[in-house]
Amino acid sequence: MSLLHLLFSVLTLFLSLTFISSSSANSEPASAQTLEIKPEIINPKLPPSPKSLSTSKKFEGSSNLVNLKYHMGPVLSSSPINVYIIWYGRWAAHQQLIIKDFLHSISPTTASATKTVAEWWKTVALYTDQTGANVSRNLLVAGEYSDHRYSQGTHLTRLSVQQVIANAVRSAPFPIDHKNGVYLILTSVDVTMQDFCRAVCGFHYFTFPSLVGYTLPYAWIGNSGKQCPEVCAYPFAVPGYMAGGGPGELRPPNGDVGVDGMISVIGHELAELSSNPLINAWYAGEDPTAPTEIGDLCEGLYGTGGGGGYIGQVMRDREGKTFNMYGKNGRKFLVQWVWSPVLKACSGPNALD
Ligand SMILES: *[C@@H]1O[C@H](CO)[C@@H](O)[C@H](O)[C@H]1NC(C)=O
Repeated sequence: MSLLHLLFSVLTLFLSLTFISSSSANSEPASAQTLEIKPEIINPKLPPSPKSLSTSKKFEGSSNLVNLKYHMGPVLSSSPINVYIIWYGRWAAHQQLIIKDFLHSISPTTASATKTVAEWWKTVALYTDQTGANVSRNLLVAGEYSDHRYSQGTHLTRLSVQQVIANAVRSAPFPIDHKNGVYLILTSVDVTMQDFCRAVCGFHYFTFPSLVGYTLPYAWIGNSGKQCPEVCAYPFAVPGYMAGGGPGELRPPNGDVGVDGMISVIGHELAELSSNPLINAWYAGEDPTAPTEIGDLCEGLYGTGGGGGYIGQVMRDREGKTFNMYGKNGRKFLVQWVWSPVLKACSGPNALD
């Protein structure tokens, strides 16, 4: 066998192995871990997000000083939680798929997979109301509405976003779901929002009867890809002042900095929406107009050993994509941890016990 020949055979073998592992990862995410090629575990130290500097809402790891309290209001205990998505602006089908695959990954699966989105949600389901009812473990994408004509323009405010919901619920077949419904308004990369980038990457609240006709919990999350990825799609983009010296940004698991960044913010907002839908259930601090909620307590933390500039131990696959949990359809996601009321610490499915 000539050297060239030998090289060719080795290459063919390598390619077929690659093909086997990627095709099985597509059909069943759980099997990815049983393969010989395990993802590498890394705990990168990155320049801090400008947001974590300005808000200082982060409580890394465990702390007895965190005084998370229950304020007697309801949690989202009706099952399933029906999520109605409002796509505001222009969205590509492949971006919508990434987000829907994440939402579809929240409900429990029969597969005995570990380090999954469904396991991550188990921590959220530990929150109960005064009747003892837990946050539901099941979440369904119950409807979608496309506001591709920018009904309220390309700049939204906290009030005009409620008008977007009002328009959507008035248009059949998008129902007003009092019992199980929550509304998720996702704005495309060209839409600006009051306080976006400066103070918030997403927020949740409830609608006013005077505007929408009903009180409905909702969350807004924007695609920061062009406006401020180093703030809202961190750690897939890091502040520029460190460029050319410090450590670089991480590679997004689904190849889209803006959308992969949104996934963690969607997780953050859904966790808070479910445990504090009317801003009278689970939060820390005395001021209900600026509550510190179960996502805020763990912002920027993705694994064991995070804090002091480290994001925590996460996984990196052979293509260099960074993630900390598996989802449906072979997806991988990087999602921040949330506060566990049982452990009294931030917790996630990739924790090292
Ligand atoms: C409900 O919450 C309680 C208190 O955190 C917890 O002990 C229990 O395991 C939860 N049940 C489910 C089904 O998650």
